Amino acid sequence: MDCVFPEHGRPRSEILDQVDALVRSMKEQAISPVSGKPDAPPHALAVETWARVSTINPNNGGVHTRSRSAPLAAGRRSPWEATRQKERELIAMLAGLYGLPAGEVDGCMTSGGTEGNLMGMWIGRNSLLEGPTPAPGHARHEQPLAVLAPRTVHHSVRKACNLLGLGEGRWVHCRRCGHRHRFVPLPNGQGLRLLDVDPRDYSLDLESCERQLASLASLGVRRALVVATLGATLTGTVDPVDELCVLIREVQRRDGLRVYLHLDAALGGLVLPFLGSTGDPRGKVDWERWPEVDSLSLDWHKMGWAPYGAGTFLCRQGLPGWVERTVGYTTTGIDDTVLGSRSGAMALACWAVVHALGAEGFRVVTDHCLGLAGQLHERLREVCGVDVLPLSLLNLVTLRLSRVGGASARARALLNRHHLFPELLSPNGEVCPEELYPIFLMPQLRLAGIQQFVAELATALT
Ligand SMILES: Cc1ncc(COP(=O)(O)O)c(C=O)c1O
Repeated sequence: MDCVFPEHGRPRSEILDQVDALVRSMKEQAISPVSGKPDAPPHALAVETWARVSTINPNNGGVHTRSRSAPLAAGRRSPWEATRQKERELIAMLAGLYGLPAGEVDGCMTSGGTEGNLMGMWIGRNSLLEGPTPAPGHARHEQPLAVLAPRTVHHSVRKACNLLGLGEGRWVHCRRCGHRHRFVPLPNGQGLRLLDVDPRDYSLDLESCERQLASLASLGVRRALVVATLGATLTGTVDPVDELCVLIREVQRRDGLRVYLHLDAALGGLVLPFLGSTGDPRGKVDWERWPEVDSLSLDWHKMGWAPYGAGTFLCRQGLPGWVERTVGYTTTGIDDTVLGSRSGAMALACWAVVHALGAEGFRVVTDHCLGLAGQLHERLREVCGVDVLPLSLLNLVTLRLSRVGGASARARALLNRHHLFPELLSPNGEVCPEELYPIFLMPQLRLAGIQQFVAELATALT
């Protein structure tokens, strides 16, 4: 490894030769008939747009859907107004896709799902901590703030609980299996509380949610951040937002609980709107019907054909105000995002993809990926006889390996060779977890590859 900071520069051609060799080697290693991650090569137009715009390196720092600027910044104009305008357009298009008028939404590009969840939970925490507090007799910051999320929630939510000082609970060793699958929340209702999921398909168990909300009320907790997922990482499950909103409305009325609801649509945000006319009503993202939903984040670098480092955060208008601070050197004089500087080139790259494909193009790709998911699901059951979770609305198939039996060591080795790695998940923390292998059916994959993978797995299992 060459780790010494070089004293002298080297010729361009020499460096580029080295870069090309690295790219070739990674490309060879990345070739696989299936994918354990929602990775796809970006659209050529996204890369070209990003490269062209990057030559001037525009900075889209801050939220540009807001018209607010600090008094000290009155009259300032940014040279990067063009890419900021494209970011506004992108946000307005997404708002339309999710059933919210553009005038009712604020938002910004993010580096991806982790940042989007952090931003939603940051705004949620501040608005709940600093907004009106109904519980009498306590100072605001003395009252617990609960975070409710299903057990399938992405680990970035636990990370955000840690970063925001909300409390993550703790995990206890199981004597039967040796894994830490029993989750113990803090006794006073502060911090993360995990909601159980249905053991058959890992969808959110609404009764568990109702029980947790009732237990919070009995603890005197009056504020809760709720995170639901539109396409869970391991299982593809879409949490029932309609029912969740009804439940939240009821506890707000009955128990005086104040709730901030964030939707993590990192996986489903650019799939669910394109399910087509036969689309399952459970996949309908209709923000107008969900007055309880405060914010939503999605990824472009999953099913949006963008290079890594691309996501979007959307929220109801005005909510970024809960995290804003004044800053002297920016055009608006306001900083209201997790990151400071942000890539204007990336906003334009995503905008270019949307215009290149249109909704029609996104529907074709979604159809292709879901078709592959259906084929893989059927063949894994029929040819390999393995346990797979019921098909979700998304382009992934989840293999449950612990029930395979004696041949599972060979199967594991094969799955690892294809970069498919398991996560352990217990639906309720009490039963021992199962090994779940999500397999993502991404746009670059083909049926022949799926058939080859199924044949290899069937051999490994005999
Ligand atoms: C549901 C969900 N949320 C959040 C994330 C984190 O996204 P990122 O890796 O873009 O930060 C992922 C990543 O796979 C995810 O599946």
